Amino acid sequence: MNAATSITLTRPDDWHLHLRDGAAMADVLPHTARQFARAIVMPNLRPPVTTAAQAAEYRARIVAALPAGSRFEPLMTLYLTDNTSAEEIRRARSSGIVHGVKLYPAGATTNSDSGVTDIRRCKVALETMQREDLPLLIHGEVTDPQVDVFDREGRFIDDVLLPLRRSFPGLRVVLEHITTRAAAQYVAEAEGRIAATITAHHLLYNRNAIFLTPDGRAGVRPHYYCLPVLKREMHRQALLAAATGESARFFLGTDSAPHPKGEKENACGCAGCFTAASAIEMYAMAFEEAGALGRLEEFASFRGADFYGLPRNTGRITLARRSWTVPAELAFGRTTVVPLAAGETLPWQLAD
Ligand code: DOR
Ligand code: ZN
Repeated sequence: MNAATSITLTRPDDWHLHLRDGAAMADVLPHTARQFARAIVMPNLRPPVTTAAQAAEYRARIVAALPAGSRFEPLMTLYLTDNTSAEEIRRARSSGIVHGVKLYPAGATTNSDSGVTDIRRCKVALETMQREDLPLLIHGEVTDPQVDVFDREGRFIDDVLLPLRRSFPGLRVVLEHITTRAAAQYVAEAEGRIAATITAHHLLYNRNAIFLTPDGRAGVRPHYYCLPVLKREMHRQALLAAATGESARFFLGTDSAPHPKGEKENACGCAGCFTAASAIEMYAMAFEEAGALGRLEEFASFRGADFYGLPRNTGRITLARRSWTVPAELAFGRTTVVPLAAGETLPWQLAD
């Protein structure tokens, strides 16, 4: 069989994205807007986006920074805190611009200090979200320093997610950036309305990538460090099977998370992989590896919209089979950001 030389698909959406703010946001936004019609924009700014009014202001800043002629639509989220009120949830729902509420366990990751210290404190907010049908988007990792970093997602599912879903069985839930076989299995089999996003990096790399170059040389590679951290190869295989499989519960969310180069290449480097400039190409590479390019459109362009109750996009994009090298760095406000896979060759390229 001849390998395809181009793929055309309905314009995809990114159901999990960090855009940051200010000049840095203005630099990374065009990469996403070129590829995707819409994105669920994470609220972990400093200070976080905790009110519908702040979400509307942040949305306006994003729209103002779009390249001329772009029809990209940011879908906003609120940052859940111990103090999020029922009124704020109702305001978010009726704003029409807020599409989910993000749960960061306090201290789990970048700018999560104001996150939830104990999910039981969020009873009123969660009840209201369930009633108003506003989805809960979850960073699913426990933060107990005693728990091994590689086990934190599994422990979260057992200790937090299961009880949470028993208490709020009607709540729509997205388990973000899943990284393990157990998470994929739980999402595939659980009752009720639950879905999961999967990043391109968790489909393409296992945890060796943090410690080894592609040709096997040893060395810490901070640009491959994100949270939840990359896991073993068997988990990557399970995620690939989930993404390319039959279940409509798995869809695209890049978790593209830019940090200044110097804050990644640092004695205490930040978590986050910047993939926005090559996202759909990286997913195409992963799907092709699994012999499932024909499934890419469903994963990238249909399932997320269906889960969020939004219309599917009508525009299209084309990827050409044309090797290109991911650039060493890209503009990021007053500094630069190093994209994931910088210097590596990708076989597919978005055709303008
Ligand atoms: O690696 C990550 N980076 N994981 C997250 O959950 C947050 C993100 C960020 O905002 O940098
Ligand atoms: Zn994220």
